[in-house]
Parts: sequence; C-alpha cells; structure tokens
Amino acid sequence: MTSTVYGGDEINAIILDQGSYNTRIGYAGDDFPKIITSSYYGQLEDGNKIFGESINVPRPNLEIKPILKESVIIDWDAAIAQYQYFFNQLKIVQSDQPILVTEPIWTEPIYREKLVENFFENFDFSGFYLAKSPTCVSFQQGRPNCLVVDIGHDSVSVTPVIDGICLLKNSMKTNYGGRFLSNEIQDYLENKGVVIEPSFNIKSKILVKYPDMANYETKNITTTESFVDFQKQKIFHQFKEILEVPEKNSTKESPRLFELPTGQSIIIDRFKIAESIFEPTIYKFANEKLSFPACNGEIELNQANEYRPLKRVRKNDSNQSTPAPEVDVRGLTQLISHTLSTIDIDLRASLANNIIVTGGVSLISQLTDRLYIELSNNNPGLKIRLHAVGNSSDRINQAWIGGSVLASLGTFHQMWVTKEEYKEAGIDRILNQRFR
Ligand SMILES: Nc1ncnc2c1ncn2[C@@H]1O[C@H](COP(=O)(O)OP(=O)(O)OP(=O)(O)O)[C@@H](O)[C@H]1O
Ligand SMILES: [Mg+2]
Repeated sequence: MTSTVYGGDEINAIILDQGSYNTRIGYAGDDFPKIITSSYYGQLEDGNKIFGESINVPRPNLEIKPILKESVIIDWDAAIAQYQYFFNQLKIVQSDQPILVTEPIWTEPIYREKLVENFFENFDFSGFYLAKSPTCVSFQQGRPNCLVVDIGHDSVSVTPVIDGICLLKNSMKTNYGGRFLSNEIQDYLENKGVVIEPSFNIKSKILVKYPDMANYETKNITTTESFVDFQKQKIFHQFKEILEVPEKNSTKESPRLFELPTGQSIIIDRFKIAESIFEPTIYKFANEKLSFPACNGEIELNQANEYRPLKRVRKNDSNQSTPAPEVDVRGLTQLISHTLSTIDIDLRASLANNIIVTGGVSLISQLTDRLYIELSNNNPGLKIRLHAVGNSSDRINQAWIGGSVLASLGTFHQMWVTKEEYKEAGIDRILNQRFR
C-alpha cells in the first residue's frame, strides 16, 4: 500500500470510481486500482446480495441487477453494500483514511446531496471529497486545460476542463457508447439467426461455420433471464474488442472471424458496427426494442449543477462561430465540434490542442485516427491534437488513476471535508463551496 506523507501526517486515501460497467477501488498514490469489479450485483432469493466474481456463478434464483445507470447510482442499498464489501476485503480502517469519490458532470443537486449524506452516514471515513471524472482525467494527464472525451459504457461525454474545473454549460453527452454497441451486436447476430448462448451453459460443442447451424449441447442449468443477459454481455464485449473504425465514407469491408461460445464461427464486418460511433443512425435495428432514442448531446442544464469559474466564458460571445444547425443526433465528431464551437474563442485553440480521448470504447482500433481526420476537416482554423493513453488498462481506468494523482498532491490535504465540517456547514455549503 502506498501512503502519502505531508505536513507530518500520513494519509492513505481511498479512491472510488464508479462507472456503469465497472467500479474501481484502491489507494491514492498507487498507479492502478486494487479492485476492478462489475457495477452489477447478484440478488439471491433470500434477499442477500452478492458481489464480485461470485455473480458469475449460475444459481436457480440469482437475479443480476445494475447498481448504476449512466454513471449515477440507481440502487443505493446495493451501492453501499458493495462498497462495504470491498472496503472490508481491502481491510480499510475508515477512521484513518479519507475517501475521494468520482462523479459524472450530469448529476443533479439532489443526487449529490444523497451521495454525500450516504457516505457520511453509512461510513466513517476521516474525510470525503467528490471529484468530477473529467477533472480526474485531466490530472492523470497533467493537463489542467483540456477537452475530455469519455467514450464509456452508458455514455459518451465531452467536457471542457479549465484550470481543473469542468465547464458544465459547454459539456455534452449522448448514450451512443458501449451499451449501444452491445445492443447493435445483439441485433446484428440475432438478425442473422445466430444463437447467443453464454459459455456457462455449454456442455459440449462441435466447431461449425455460419451459415451452418450451431451444433452444441447445453448443461441445462436453471437460472434467471437477468443472469443469462448479463453473461451475454460478455460475448458482446469480446465482439467489441475486435471492432475497427472505417475511414469516412469507406465502402470497404473489414471481415474477421468471430467464434461464439456455441462453437459456431461467423465472419463479421468489423466496420459495420463501429461506424455508428461516428454516425449513430447508420445501423438500422431489426429489433426496435434494442434501438436507442435520438439524442443530440445536450445536457438538461436545469438539472446539472452548473458552475462557471471564469468571466471569460460569456453567453453571447460575439466571437463565437455561427451556431451549428439544429440536429437530432450527434455522432462523436459532431459532439466535439459542437462543444468547441460554444467555447470562448480565447480558450478554443488551447482546448483543441489538448483533447484527451478516454473510456473503454475509445480503444476500438482506428477510432482516434478517424476522429483526428474528421475534427481537423471540420475545424480548419484549429490545430487539433488528440491525447490517448497508449496502455489500454490505463485508458479504461484513467479517471481512477487521475483521482489517485489528485488526492496525493501535497496541497490536497486542505480539500478533505470531515464529518464535523459537514455537520457544521450543512450539505448546501459543502456542495457549493467544497465540491464544485
Ligand atoms: N478494447 C475494447 N474495445 C472496445 N470496447 C471496449 C474495450 N474495452 C472495453 N470496452 C467497452 O467499454 C465499455 C466500458 O468502458 P468504461 O470502463 O470506460 O465504462 P465505465 O467507466 O464503467 O462506464 P461509464 O460509461 O459510466 O463511464 C464497455 O462497453 C466495454 O465493453
Ligand atoms: Mg467511466
């Protein structure tokens, strides 16, 4: 365990980064989280909850449920129980350690209130801090001024960060991320008549090639629909790992053999699915239930906890480029270009030069190359520079790593909010003055 010493005090801060796919927990100052676990939990028939790897063991009445949606906790009991479970596993002595928790930029004030209250009331950490994910990413890169493009599971977001502070009014978010791709993959395979049977239920298989029918025997394990769906997500994840982004307007195909757990292989077109990161409406769903509603990336601002740190960010900036036409759906490039167009002209060049691309889906082959070309073409007056961490594990856990960097800064000790301070100052002041 790494510990940070400053001012004579030794602090082993805990960093907790909650994503809608994975949750990461570990110690400040470390290069990597100690625990990376699914943001889903298992609910047994008797009401008991299970966490970690054991949720992958099939049982007759085991329901698998999400803890978060769009990086926001939707099941508070499960969230608290999951954190407690892993804090115990790490043998964390709460009274000796402060905790930094990441949050997305689109949380409502009432949600933030609940989050802070839950941490102070259910746990006994010596201090607490709530940090915005893009701020953490900017610290991981040591770039206080940057544009953070996070292509995660439930969400794709673009956030300008200035002096480490997120400009919420200029930020954008859509849902065309990893889950969207999973739905496309499911639709693509089902529409071809491919059986998607997760590996836990496969007893034996004979290797065949599509269009030959899968030839396998199942174990006939009795479990729940939610368990099977959760296991299917692993197949879609493997499928995503071999995707490749095509060049713009390319008519080429990029065939690759993909083997399903049933032993059936199918030649898939890697371009076909990945293109939708840039053009979300290009893939036509056969099963409407799997499709996503149109989304132009604007965040409901009355819900966002807006903060403007600089006078420089003016509303009716006369230098601003002509507003982009109204659109229903924005792909990745349009989302970033639109954000850049709303940014104060003095900051625009610096942000265009410091675009950080992060999140699991950003690992898709050729994604950053295509993004660079499109952004450069769409913004001829700007010098575009993308920064994407080369190591894939670092990229997926970048917000956690940034939180680890942030909390180990020598100046950070004054940022922790203690229970006493929370009780004295009240939640509103803590939220508005300490966790901006
Ligand atoms: N190498 C890869 N290629 C393509 N997709 C990947 C790769 N690795 C992970 N993913 C996908 O990235 C998504 C997870 O990304 P990430 O870990 O950034 O999400 P998260 O932080 O848990 O969620 P959130 O969207 O709430 O931030 C999943 O959909 C996963 O399948
Ligand atoms: Mg994330």
